[in-house]
Amino acid sequence: MSTVVISVTNQKGGVGKTTSSVNIAYYLAKAGKKTLLIDFDPQGNATSGLGIDKQTLRKTMTDVIKGDTPLKNIILPSVHKNLFLAPATPHLANAEVELSQAQGRFTRLKQAVEGLESYDYILIDSPPSLSLLTVNGLIASNYVLLPVQAEFYALEGLGQLLETMKIIRKGMNPTLELIGVLPTMMDGRTTLSGQVHEEIKKYFPGKVFDNPIPRNIRLAEAPSHGLPVGMYDRFSKGARAYKAVTKEVLDRVG
Ligand SMILES: Nc1ncnc2c1ncn2[C@@H]1O[C@H](COP(=O)(O)OP(=O)(O)O)[C@@H](O)[C@H]1O
Ligand SMILES: [Mg+2]
Repeated sequence: MSTVVISVTNQKGGVGKTTSSVNIAYYLAKAGKKTLLIDFDPQGNATSGLGIDKQTLRKTMTDVIKGDTPLKNIILPSVHKNLFLAPATPHLANAEVELSQAQGRFTRLKQAVEGLESYDYILIDSPPSLSLLTVNGLIASNYVLLPVQAEFYALEGLGQLLETMKIIRKGMNPTLELIGVLPTMMDGRTTLSGQVHEEIKKYFPGKVFDNPIPRNIRLAEAPSHGLPVGMYDRFSKGARAYKAVTKEVLDRVG
């Protein structure tokens, strides 16, 4: 099987991109898939969420995007034998500014990823913007996984992302596909959450995962222990939901 690359993208912050990236990557690894999580957000939350101290890092995605280092040289082992991390720090924001002038600026990540061998899955944790980094992620990917927070403004702004995907499909990446829409932070007790869930399903017919992610404190606690929720509290509701969604991802890739 060739490598499956999935961008976890939504230009809004705080919707569960990083939480979804880390936890789906973990369950893919646990399912026996050799998985690389690329932290592609200058905030570096996926990096710290896997217990890596950003102060100690010598080589990061910054070096890769500048073209100074091949991706394989920055990859770190992680909390599961099949799970690997390409870390990021705030310097990645500067690299993005430099990149905006460079030749081949849209395909830097694609080229970096193509130089890798032997991964079954690569997940890209995107920044909360439709920036050059995000576009690099979309061009490097086979699929987009779109987390949507179950709140009143959930769908606002998504048109812009879908439009960007359309443009990328017409040009640099014709086979880019939406693998699924993942409602996050669902609150089973409120009717608003239920209504928003219905609205998301109407907006994305056939695309919404059957296992929405509930609001669950264990998901918010796990990163401070440097662990995916599946290692922090594997029987929590959040862990079970991410395990189930990962199975859906595997089924959809087929
Ligand atoms: N299902 C959830 N239940 C409770 N807290 C969550 C859940 N998903 C994410 N969080 C918390 O919400 C915040 C934003 O999530 P995060 O994954 O960092 O979003 P993004 O990467 O889109 O900015 C984080 O503090 C995270 O721990
Ligand atoms: Mg994030």
